Amino acid sequence: MTRHAVEARQITKVFGTGPLAYQALRGVDLAVEAGEFLMLAGPSGSGKTTLLSIVGCVLGATSGTLHLAGQDVTKLTPSALPDLRLHRIGFIFQGHNLIASLSARENVALVAKMQGRGSKEAQKRADALLERVGLSDKRTNLPSELSGGQRQRVAIARALVADPPLVLADEPTAALDAQSGQIVTELLRELCRQRGHTVIVVTHDSRIFHLADRMVHIEDGQITSDREEASS
Ligand SMILES: Nc1ncnc2c1ncn2[C@@H]1O[C@H](COP(=O)(O)OP(=O)(O)O)[C@@H](O)[C@H]1O
Ligand SMILES: [Mg+2]
Repeated sequence: MTRHAVEARQITKVFGTGPLAYQALRGVDLAVEAGEFLMLAGPSGSGKTTLLSIVGCVLGATSGTLHLAGQDVTKLTPSALPDLRLHRIGFIFQGHNLIASLSARENVALVAKMQGRGSKEAQKRADALLERVGLSDKRTNLPSELSGGQRQRVAIARALVADPPLVLADEPTAALDAQSGQIVTELLRELCRQRGHTVIVVTHDSRIFHLADRMVHIEDGQITSDREEASS
């Protein structure tokens, strides 16, 4: 068996019970190779966030198995999951989720500190990442003092500061205008490519589809198409 970065097999997810039960995922198979930049697209309510949350070990599947880098994470105890998320997965959300009272640098450094790094080392790593996303001059600014595109670049720096093998982004361009969305996605792709991260971007922003190595479409909890893109 090849060691995929992500290998989800026959994943189902049912929310609720009895007459109110809703099946959000209906047997999803998805294998992602290390270093791939994959986009997952589909209409609202199709199960994108649910699938991403399961892959990110934030949500448990109802059935099916999930391997991350060859490890069967469905077998892990719940207490092992926060550590796995902290060290192996970087999350980027639609609303950047930055802490309002912390500067850009502090937001990024916080994750490095949570990983057990000392303050100085965490700050050094944060500054290096902020430089990579072109925000060296904004590192002491609060999120409220940044544009939407700049905040999303801080969120990228924060997701990458722990050097996680897997990066998951849920509609990262939804709050951005077309141009910023494009720039932020290109930046994410470039940085992840250089550093060897595997990336899954959930999006229904067709303006960024051309940046994907591979496009997967999901509808009504099932994958409807999965194809490699000509690299751009
Ligand atoms: N916690 C939940 N409880 C009940 N239903 C949910 C929950 N989360 C999502 N759903 C339902 O599952 C379906 C898929 O949701 P979601 O994965 O968020 O879709 P998408 O991200 O593609 O818009 C939707 O019909 C949604 O209402
Ligand atoms: Mg969603």
